[in-house]
Amino acid sequence: MRKNIVAGNWKMNNDLKATRKLVKQIRKSIKGEDLNNTRVIVAPTFVNLATAVKRSKKSKLEVAAQNMHQATNGAYTGEISADMLKSIGVKTVILGHSERRAYFGETDALLAEKVNAALANKLEVIFCFGEELADRKAGNEEAVVEGQIKNALFHLDANAYKNIVLAYEPVWAIGTGETASPEQAQDMHAFIRKTLSAKYGNDVADSVSILYGGSVKPANAKEIFSKADVDGGLIGGASLKAEDFHAIITAF
Ligand code: 13P
Repeated sequence: MRKNIVAGNWKMNNDLKATRKLVKQIRKSIKGEDLNNTRVIVAPTFVNLATAVKRSKKSKLEVAAQNMHQATNGAYTGEISADMLKSIGVKTVILGHSERRAYFGETDALLAEKVNAALANKLEVIFCFGEELADRKAGNEEAVVEGQIKNALFHLDANAYKNIVLAYEPVWAIGTGETASPEQAQDMHAFIRKTLSAKYGNDVADSVSILYGGSVKPANAKEIFSKADVDGGLIGGASLKAEDFHAIITAF
């Protein structure tokens, strides 16, 4: 059975002190909780990853990176490799976030390389994609999403999907307060699963967790997560407050 996942993408927020505090609060909040097949992940900035890993040991909280470079090592000033993440105990990396695509020019082709590097290093990948508002207005959202998935992931064999989580994040819903309706999310998630099934068969399609991201809040999480093909959320703003994040985790 595929897992439910609630992952907090902290983006460029929380210094060292705030990281310690928030990790502690989240740890505590889920300690006695029956998480009901739900994994809980936080993704702090690179500089605070080691601290977050250390401080979430012996707890149910997992730690992910927000990005990584595709090369093993070398002259790439300012970059971080899969190996470096692994060496501090990180097991999961977010790739393809729309902010990486928009502000740092990450293309599907580059993301395919990053996915390969992550998987080769036995890191789990949370792969993000999603259409922009203009795509949806033009009725092109499925074509855009299908293209993003095919271009970055369809060179992989079926076995690779054991280490892949998909995160549908419509760009128009990120940080805007405007959420996809539960029906819009379900429709797209069902389409994504159908796309996976056409390429890899039902077993793979049914085993991959598909998260929704974009203005998920305590007030709307339950309804979105109640949809059959929505296996959790990738949470931005609301993951920065322990209380809100906890309310979203327990929405399952
Ligand atoms: P918000 O929840 O702030 O809209 O951000 C979503 C997101 O980008 C998670 O990766």
